[in-house]
Amino acid sequence: MKFQRHILRDVQGYVPGEQPRESDIIKLNTNENPYPPSPRIFEALQALNGDAFRKYPDPVSLRFRRALAERYGYPDESWVIVGNGMDELLALVLRTFVDPGDTVLATDPTYSLYEILCKLHDCRLEYVALDEHYQLSPAFFSAQGRLCFLTRPNAPSGVAVPKAEVARFCTGFDGIVVIDEAYVDFAEDNCLEFARDHDNVIVMRTFSKSFSLAGMRIGTAVARPELIAEFLKTKDSYNMNVVSQAIGLAAINDYDHMLENVAKVKASRTRLRDALLELGFKVPESQSNFLLAEWRGTPDAQTIFEAMKRDKILVRYFKMPRLEHSLRITVGTDAECAAFVQALKRILHKE
Ligand SMILES: Cc1ncc(COP(=O)(O)O)c(C=O)c1O
Repeated sequence: MKFQRHILRDVQGYVPGEQPRESDIIKLNTNENPYPPSPRIFEALQALNGDAFRKYPDPVSLRFRRALAERYGYPDESWVIVGNGMDELLALVLRTFVDPGDTVLATDPTYSLYEILCKLHDCRLEYVALDEHYQLSPAFFSAQGRLCFLTRPNAPSGVAVPKAEVARFCTGFDGIVVIDEAYVDFAEDNCLEFARDHDNVIVMRTFSKSFSLAGMRIGTAVARPELIAEFLKTKDSYNMNVVSQAIGLAAINDYDHMLENVAKVKASRTRLRDALLELGFKVPESQSNFLLAEWRGTPDAQTIFEAMKRDKILVRYFKMPRLEHSLRITVGTDAECAAFVQALKRILHKE
């Protein structure tokens, strides 16, 4: 196509997990939360009057950022930025801190969007392979670049590398380290304080998973004020609409609701993992709301994925090196997980 920019020739575009229209599907493919968000968000929505919609939203989302700073234990909003989902902030971090042609680092495997964003930004993404247990390898600690995406807990393994290793990496790395904590509310610990302890760390989170608000598109980042100030220069003028700001604020102020949902998901995660281990899958211990289940038997993982789909159960299959023998299963309600396990037993003839 004669109008195409050269960098787009090599870009396929991100392929999100399927979002079927039918309602009789068990959807364990995009790491959504199976439980509803806080009822307070509906009150916040109702409180928005015509004026709120008529006028432009607060361009810097002040009230929401203040509430986040307080919740995260940071002095004020100058430490926080919010965006239209974490995906927007991931794109913005490249626009803000990386020049075209620079090298960006990530682990392999990891969240596949980083690679696409790097291609769109015309910078070079260098992968450093995780070891067989999805842990950081020595090569990772000696690599350098303008920026590094470090997902903790990682996707799609679910594994959280030790916090001390992340700290060691942040200290030795010359560029910016983005710690992607999309799933951290399901984990044992987090790296939030690294944004204060290191001048090169940005900790990002999303409301899509633990807060059950994937449909709203709310992402957050915490970093030293001098880094946040750079973001404020590059973001769209009104990057958070009035509804997202109001709902985000209501959700963060009902933190206990999120914690209750997370506790339920974590309990189901243990039961689902036990069932998969019993069936002979290899499943690393996950600190996320999904499990990566490796299967070397027959039928193969792709066939299981397709058979599940016929049974109206969606999980995720990645046809790529290292992942082609695995299924990624989002932890649903106990009933959804039980239906999945039952279908799996049928497919494997282990009833
Ligand atoms: C590791 C990781 N980071 C970021 C995101 C994006 O989150 P959001 O829905 O806020 O754009 C996802 C979503 O699946 C993810 O898996």
